[in-house]
Amino acid sequence: MTWGRLLWGGALFFWLVGCGAPGPTAVSPTPLPLFPPPDLTGDPVHGQTLYERRVLGSGAPGCVTCHSLAPDVVLVGPSHFGLADRVAQMAPEQDAALYLWQSIVDPSAHITEGFNASDMYGQYATQLTAQEVADLVAYMLTLRE
Ligand code: HEC
Repeated sequence: MTWGRLLWGGALFFWLVGCGAPGPTAVSPTPLPLFPPPDLTGDPVHGQTLYERRVLGSGAPGCVTCHSLAPDVVLVGPSHFGLADRVAQMAPEQDAALYLWQSIVDPSAHITEGFNASDMYGQYATQLTAQEVADLVAYMLTLRE
């Protein structure tokens, strides 16, 4: 072991720690919080673009691979036809935006009747940015019957 190697190893170590996992794949090394940052405003138009992607983050499945917008069509998860109305009825005691945020970042927080939490993709908290989740929530709040 030479000093040169030791220094190089140290530099590499700090580079890894400083940048999180190496490579362009990790979107967020720290999972998103269970409560949306209060200063964040979602953009429903960008949210729709994200919602319709087949792939999100570094290879995460897109929402449309499991959720249909047609009434009563179950792909893997529940249809999101009229989702905003349904959520308002389902969770009158809490904010619909908060419910939707938590459904994405921590699917086990709320489980839709007749479905299993484990069937919803569970890693969005590290695959999406807070802004992206806010945009998706803003879009889903427009899904009215
Ligand atoms: C691998 C399949 C799968 C993917 C991908 C997926 N979901 Fe889900 N989702 C489910 C299942 C199954 C449920 C029902 C279980 C539960 O409530 O956790 C669910 C539930 C939900 C709910 C709860 C509200 C309700 O009653 O429908 C929301 C909101 C939601 N998903 C949004 C999203 C969004 C937004 C994305 C994309 C960022 C997404 N899902 C991607 C399978 C998926």
